[in-house]
Amino acid sequence: MALIFYSEMDPFESWRDALGQAIPDLDIRNWDAPGDPAEIEFALVWRPPAGALRQFPNLKAILNLGAGVDALLQDPDLPAGVPIVRMVDEDLAQCMAEYVLLHVLRYHREQPLLDARQRAHDWRMLISPPAAHRRVGLMGLGVMGMTSADLLRPVGFDLAAWTRGPRTVPGVECFHGADGLKPFLARSEILVCLLPLTPETEGILNADLFDALPRGAYLINAGRGGQQVEDDILAALDSGQLGGATLDVFRTEPLPAGSPFWDHAKVTVTPHNASVTNPDSAIRHVCDSIRRVRAGEPLRHVVDPATGY
Ligand code: NDP
Ligand code: OXD
Repeated sequence: MALIFYSEMDPFESWRDALGQAIPDLDIRNWDAPGDPAEIEFALVWRPPAGALRQFPNLKAILNLGAGVDALLQDPDLPAGVPIVRMVDEDLAQCMAEYVLLHVLRYHREQPLLDARQRAHDWRMLISPPAAHRRVGLMGLGVMGMTSADLLRPVGFDLAAWTRGPRTVPGVECFHGADGLKPFLARSEILVCLLPLTPETEGILNADLFDALPRGAYLINAGRGGQQVEDDILAALDSGQLGGATLDVFRTEPLPAGSPFWDHAKVTVTPHNASVTNPDSAIRHVCDSIRRVRAGEPLRHVVDPATGY
């Protein structure tokens, strides 16, 4: 039984050592030395080249090194019928929740404006409303959204969330589906996008959506760049409909040197590092999937190709 590893982001050696310790009889191979393709039963991957997984005829599971599986699902030559398991890991979710809390608090306390005033040697005070009067909206209430809600809730924010199907979560006003979007947006002064990229969410962060927000609302996007209509974000910032944006993801990554986002006074750019898979904790999840396949038990966190997440 062998596992093949592919990632340009994650270190092969760390994963090989951690997996080798946890499952000593697992043969762990790097992409450039796959050996006999028929022996490969697991693929542990992040954005493998399109069509490349087809060469393994006995693949039992594709284990994604990240939470988002959009890049995998865009591969028209993905081996049919092989389950894709997305990354669900406490540390990955906690790391995202910290990012969300950090940037929600920055906007809640008007820190970007205070930074600008500091540069102008301007000592005027700015008073923020109590957190209970700050309406924060989470697009997506999955693993990332729920963990973020759990970190935001104790601060006292007035929380809402928008999902595909109906949800009931204590302390979160829940909206769902197409009908729920406008009322959800109308009460979101700080909008946080934690959606997967699917055919339904492609381009969702567009001018119509921004127009439905309270004027001057803030946008935080840690979902995927494909959700952004980037010219619409710039126009909404310039018109004042958006008060500011914190963007961790972009249509083109790395963000090109000439992108207007780099130097925009109302934009914070982060390099797709809102949350990063850490082998030390994520190993548990990968081992659990391998163990389940070996034991003939059902896998957890399997992607539904029909919904794309
Ligand atoms: P989950 O699958 O656990 O949750 C997805 C959530 O999005 C669910 O609440 C789901 O609704 C909702 N959703 C999906 N489609 C729609 C839709 N069409 N309309 C409304 N709501 C929708 O995913 P995770 O929370 O684990 O991850 C979310 C995304 O975060 C990833 O796909 C990835 O793109 C991104 N991410 C980014 C990282 C970064 O560093 N920037 C790091 C990790 C993840 P429902 O509850 O009804 O199913
Ligand atoms: C992920 C990511 O999806 O890092 O895990 O973007």
